[in-house]
Amino acid sequence: MSPGSAPSGDHSSASTVTISKPTVYVLDAFNPEAIAHAKTLFNVILPEDLSFANWRKKASAILIRGSYITAEDIESCPNLVAIGKHGVGIDKIDQEACSERGIKILNTPGANARDVAELVLALTMAVARDIRSITVRQMSKPVPKETCNGLTLYGKTLGIIGMGNIGRTVAEIFRGAFDAEVVACDVFMPNDEWPHIPHERVKTVHEVLKKADVVSVHVPLTKETTHMISYDEIRMMKQDAILINAARGGIVNETDLGKALSEGHLWGAGLDCHEQEPPTREKYGALWAHLNVISTPHIGAATTRAQTASAMAAVNNLYNYLMDTRD
Ligand SMILES: NC(=O)c1ccc[n+]([C@@H]2O[C@H](COP(=O)([O-])OP(=O)(O)OC[C@H]3O[C@@H](n4cnc5c(N)ncnc54)[C@H](O)[C@@H]3O)[C@@H](O)[C@H]2O)c1
Repeated sequence: MSPGSAPSGDHSSASTVTISKPTVYVLDAFNPEAIAHAKTLFNVILPEDLSFANWRKKASAILIRGSYITAEDIESCPNLVAIGKHGVGIDKIDQEACSERGIKILNTPGANARDVAELVLALTMAVARDIRSITVRQMSKPVPKETCNGLTLYGKTLGIIGMGNIGRTVAEIFRGAFDAEVVACDVFMPNDEWPHIPHERVKTVHEVLKKADVVSVHVPLTKETTHMISYDEIRMMKQDAILINAARGGIVNETDLGKALSEGHLWGAGLDCHEQEPPTREKYGALWAHLNVISTPHIGAATTRAQTASAMAAVNNLYNYLMDTRD
């Protein structure tokens, strides 16, 4: 069943048998529409409910959004069988501990892809047209247009690292908006992926970095992708290329990015994801001193549409899994 769609199966063939609702503990704030929907499927226990206090001992199913679930958490939850995760990234959950216990993690791939991809477009265009530098300078004195210069994105080459839901949507948008050439890599996707998008499939990240005018990163944060884009990789990029990270902080090495920018490398960078979130001036002041860097505090999915779709999908995915595995 696709995420966000209605629960499947005829679980109500119970004209004679009454099936009790499963119980779910909701650890984080969820969209009210999704909570109302969850209440039609589950006994929903929220943090403000009295019975929430002892959730670790009792919970067989939980819904989370931003919470960390560590190996210690898993150990303290003897009955846990499934975790519904609002959103795509599952790097805050100890996946090894879950796998050892056979605990299923159900995230919501695709539910926010359109919204994150649109933010990638916004960041790329803002960096290309030097919007931050111009608007910041204008705060202190008028900026003559003769001192401004931007990059044209039409016909440029877009490089996608990670050809999943978001990477694909970004490629579709750039094809439509800019008639962009597309070069992409993904270590897991089959070679015939993206039949509807004219593109060059390359084997390595380095090939993408060398060829692209705009590089957009869309891989999960894993051991393999941590600091995947460090100093040598940034220096491999064209001098006037744009780097976008709306995937996870830690994929782009932030210290190395600052160093490369100080050396005049890159046209600029757009970062929706940072090693420290939300990013602060104390930590990022030096990076932000480069006015060709635009940072946002992980807002790729911060739209009403994406929040509702992801929350509903998390509820439905968890419910369907519990029904499908019910004795
Ligand atoms: N900025 C935001 O608000 C926001 C919102 C949602 C997701 N995200 C991030 O965006 C990432 C991508 O999301 P998605 O929905 O497209 O996920 P997805 O699972 O659909 O796609 C990820 C792709 O990365 C590929 N991949 C994994 N490891 C790789 C590697 N080492 N090299 C090359 N390719 C690799 C996978 O094969 C997959 O095709 C997520 O992992 C998440 O961290 C950010």
